[in-house]
Amino acid sequence: MNGLDGAAEEISEDFHGMIGRSAVMLALYEQARQVARAGGSVLVCGESGVGKELITRALHAESDRGDGPLIPVNCAGIPSELLESELFGHASGAFTGAQHARRGLFAEAHGGTLLLDEIAELAPEMQAKLLRVLQDGQVRPLGANLERQVDVRVVAATNRDLEREVTRGRFREDLFFRLATFTLRVPPLRERGEDLQRLAAHFACHFSVAIGRSPLALSDAALSLLSGYSFPGNVRELANLIERAVTF
Ligand SMILES: Nc1ncnc2c1ncn2[C@@H]1O[C@H](COP(=O)(O)OP(=O)(O)OP(=O)(O)O)[C@@H](O)[C@H]1O
Ligand SMILES: [Mg+2]
Repeated sequence: MNGLDGAAEEISEDFHGMIGRSAVMLALYEQARQVARAGGSVLVCGESGVGKELITRALHAESDRGDGPLIPVNCAGIPSELLESELFGHASGAFTGAQHARRGLFAEAHGGTLLLDEIAELAPEMQAKLLRVLQDGQVRPLGANLERQVDVRVVAATNRDLEREVTRGRFREDLFFRLATFTLRVPPLRERGEDLQRLAAHFACHFSVAIGRSPLALSDAALSLLSGYSFPGNVRELANLIERAVTF
């Protein structure tokens, strides 16, 4: 793509680092505000690259836990045995290689928010353990004999249809209901065409400044090219595309 022209104006954020003023996004920001105030667990769903982590950060910032930690964990990347000690911690000597005790991410998120990303990938035994922690708010590190009370708001994110995973028997129904007190659905980019221009302008400016060039704007030709594309990878794909265009 060429079509990057001279000086651009910086685009101001619309909601805690998020860009977009389409009706669907304004509705999402409002929902996030309400849910933030309400407390309780939240399920954030939406296709890959739509901004699930960003809206979680916004929700955290809006909540009374905003000054506390926000800890993201990817449930997909880590084998179950490791994930357990990662989340709940372990005592020293709990298993081979566990020389030092570890608090675990639940304890680290105390007073804040824990984002369990790609929750649909959680193995059955971890689903059971997570459910127990959510039920009584107590975490027991591996090999420890004392439980510790934690005050954590859990936000789970997924790009799958988690209800369908439940009907297929791949995800526990009781855990689903625990996690999904509230649901936020982040719409795919193709459902917010009105935001495309603002987002593209934001990334063009952001990436040109990042490599020390004067801020670039997109030409009308470039914009009309972008509007004709469906962006299966959503905002992340748009950002990557503009970054490449700015670099070359
Ligand atoms: N509304 C937005 N305004 C500005 N940047 C955005 C917006 N939505 C997403 N992004 C950017 O796009 C990228 C992807 O966003 P994010 O990581 O929040 O998506 P995700 O849904 O969690 O993706 P994945 O499914 O891959 O985990 C990030 O670089 C993020 O900063
Ligand atoms: Mg994510």
